[in-house]
Amino acid sequence: MIVVIDGPAGSGKSSTARAVAHELNIQYLDSGALYRAVTYLFLESEQSLPKFFESLYSVQLTFKFDNEFHVSLNGEVITEAIRDPKISLHVSGIAAMTKVREFINAIMKKAVQHGLYIADGRDLGTAVFPNAKCKFFMTADLETRAKRRRQELDSKGIQVSYSEVVAEIKRRDQIDSTREEDPLKQADDAILVDSSAFSFDEQVQYIVKKIKESIILE
Ligand code: CDP
Repeated sequence: MIVVIDGPAGSGKSSTARAVAHELNIQYLDSGALYRAVTYLFLESEQSLPKFFESLYSVQLTFKFDNEFHVSLNGEVITEAIRDPKISLHVSGIAAMTKVREFINAIMKKAVQHGLYIADGRDLGTAVFPNAKCKFFMTADLETRAKRRRQELDSKGIQVSYSEVVAEIKRRDQIDSTREEDPLKQADDAILVDSSAFSFDEQVQYIVKKIKESIILE
C-alpha cells in the first residue's frame, strides 16, 4: 500500500509524512531526497550530461528510514550533504530531465512493492503512483513556507536570509510546475490540505484519520 503527499517547496509535506509514518508505523519515502542525491552526484562528478546519464545506472543509490530518511551513494552517507543550498539551487533543473525521472521512478516503484509506505514529492499522485491508496496535496502561502524553510535551515546551522529563501522557493516552484515532464500539480482525486490553516499536530491527525477511513472503506 502507498499513500502520497505532493506539494510545493516548504509546504510541510516531509515533516508531516514522517510524523504520519511514525504514527501508523509504516515506511517513509522522501522522493525529493532521491532527486537531491542525483543532483549531488552530478555536481560532484563534473561530467558532461551524456556521460553522466551513461554512468547513472552503475550507481548504488540506497536509502533507509529510521527517525530520518537516510540516503547513500555507493556506500557514502549523504543525508546531510543533500540539504546544502547549492543542491537546492540545482535540483529542479536536474529533476526536469526525463532520464533522471526514469531512473528515480524505477527505484521508487521497486522499493514500495513490499510493505506499507507514505511518500512525498511533486508528481507522485499524478504520475508515479496514480493508483495510490490515498492522495494528499499540501500547500501553504509563500510567507509561511519561506519562514518554515528558513527555520529548518537555521536549525541545521545554514544561514540564509529570508529574501533568499523566498527567491529560491519561487524559482523552484516555477520550474517544478511548468516543466514538460510530470509537473507539480494536484491530482484530481487528491485531498487538499492547506497547512497554513492547521497546527502541525492537527494536520498529522487529519491525514492519519483520512488514511484510516480509506482503509476501512476498501
Ligand atoms: O525543499 P523541498 O523539501 O520542498 O523539496 P524536495 O522534496 O527535497 O525536492 C527537491 C526537488 O526535487 C524539487 O524542487 C523538485 O524539483 C524535485 N522533485 C521532483 O521533481 N519530483 C518529486 N517527486 C520530488 C522532488
